[in-house]
Amino acid sequence: MDALTCITNRRSIRAFQDKPVPRDLLTEIITTACRSPSYKNSQPWQVMVVSGKKKQGLSEMMIELLDNGTPFCPDLPAPASWPETEQARIDRLISQRTTYTGMDLNDPAIITRARKANFSFYGAPHAIYLYQDSSLSPWSLFDLGLFAQTLMLVAQAKGIGTVPQAFVTDYAQQIKEYLAIPADKRLVLGISMGYPDQEDPANGLRTQRSPVEEIASFVE
Ligand SMILES: Cc1cc2nc3c(=O)[nH]c(=O)nc-3n(C[C@H](O)[C@H](O)[C@H](O)COP(=O)(O)O)c2cc1C
Repeated sequence: MDALTCITNRRSIRAFQDKPVPRDLLTEIITTACRSPSYKNSQPWQVMVVSGKKKQGLSEMMIELLDNGTPFCPDLPAPASWPETEQARIDRLISQRTTYTGMDLNDPAIITRARKANFSFYGAPHAIYLYQDSSLSPWSLFDLGLFAQTLMLVAQAKGIGTVPQAFVTDYAQQIKEYLAIPADKRLVLGISMGYPDQEDPANGLRTQRSPVEEIASFVE
């Protein structure tokens, strides 16, 4: 698959086949993603692949914490508000999803169901956690973002689907304890990974993008 096709065809996958990705392939995907650029080649990324019973236990723990009303404690707090331009794009996504699914995405019961689907890693066989030392600067968060995108594109090139998930870091403290990740690391992102279930409508939505004129200018 050429790079342009890979970038254009990637989309977030939220339904997976019940079939693990072979360990060699997971290792190859991570190894290739390590070619991502980083500030002074500092490579500020650490990766944990969680599968099998450990992943199942993690899902159960997060769902139980949610059911008990335990407050969220993400290392990177969710934005409290957005500037107008970005908020308008979020609103467009919600409206597109509402039309596509026919569900009221502001309904608390639907929100809880969506959170639990996130905590179940949408049925993916693997949950990839990305983390780094908490003392690193915002540049290192930027670098970890580059790493995450490269990882998802390499997976896409290999026919493997992914979805980046901030939600699965909501209980960062408990997750780090469960996975024996030191408390002084920041848990930045989870990525569910597996073979896409192409028949599932959850994977049918193609999200929109703003026109290039809205985000790019050319000066001479
Ligand atoms: C940093 C980040 C966090 C995200 N968190 C979630 C999440 O918690 N749950 C989820 O289902 N999707 C999540 N997404 C996926 C976005 O909703 C998705 O990338 C966006 O709507 C564009 O759609 P696409 O990936 O299909 O192109 C996240 C994406 C990013 C980059």
